[in-house]
Amino acid sequence: MIIDGMVFGCYLLETVLLSSLSCFYSETCISNFRYILGAIPFPVQALNDSLTRFSVNDTIETMAYQMFIESWASNVSYEKFYNSCSPNYCMYTYYYRFDMLQLLTTFLSVFAGLSLGIRFVVPYIVKIFQKIQHRFRIVPMQ
Ligand SMILES: *[C@@H]1O[C@H](CO)[C@@H](O)[C@H](O)[C@H]1NC(C)=O
Ligand SMILES: *[C@@H]1O[C@H](CO)[C@@H](O)[C@H](O)[C@H]1NC(C)=O
Ligand SMILES: *[C@@H]1O[C@H](CO)[C@@H](O)[C@H](O)[C@H]1NC(C)=O
Repeated sequence: MIIDGMVFGCYLLETVLLSSLSCFYSETCISNFRYILGAIPFPVQALNDSLTRFSVNDTIETMAYQMFIESWASNVSYEKFYNSCSPNYCMYTYYYRFDMLQLLTTFLSVFAGLSLGIRFVVPYIVKIFQKIQHRFRIVPMQ
């Protein structure tokens, strides 16, 4: 007897992994399979190959590697998750690696801030120094 897609390996696991479900896509094949197994004849519904992304001849191993996933839709809402779980507090860990670009950015921003600050402060410092110098010049004249 030959059953479509059925492969018999030395081990049961091989048999399962190397076989495909192609027989279950054909009502005739399913009927024959049931007849061989001695099951009572009963109208059966075959699988519909247009409802799956897998090929009819894909082995169970192939499908297992893709975890039998037909489609994967991701619809994530952190807001809804937060609202429905209503945690008392929220904590997150932030891994920070200091790289060359960040070093340069930090240096430039500190440099820019410093130069801006110094530009405002230096005229006053110069004025204060000038006043002090002026006072010291005046003192010996008296
Ligand atoms: C398989 O599914 C498609 C899409 O739902 C449908 O149009 C088609 O009639 C189905 N075929 C069988 C044999 O059920
Ligand atoms: C599956 O394999 C059979 C036999 O090897 C072949 O006749 C059939 O066209 C194949 N079907 C698909 C969808 O690859
Ligand atoms: C995500 O799910 C919400 C509700 O479950 C729905 O209103 C929204 O349209 C979905 N968005 C997408 C992109 O599927």
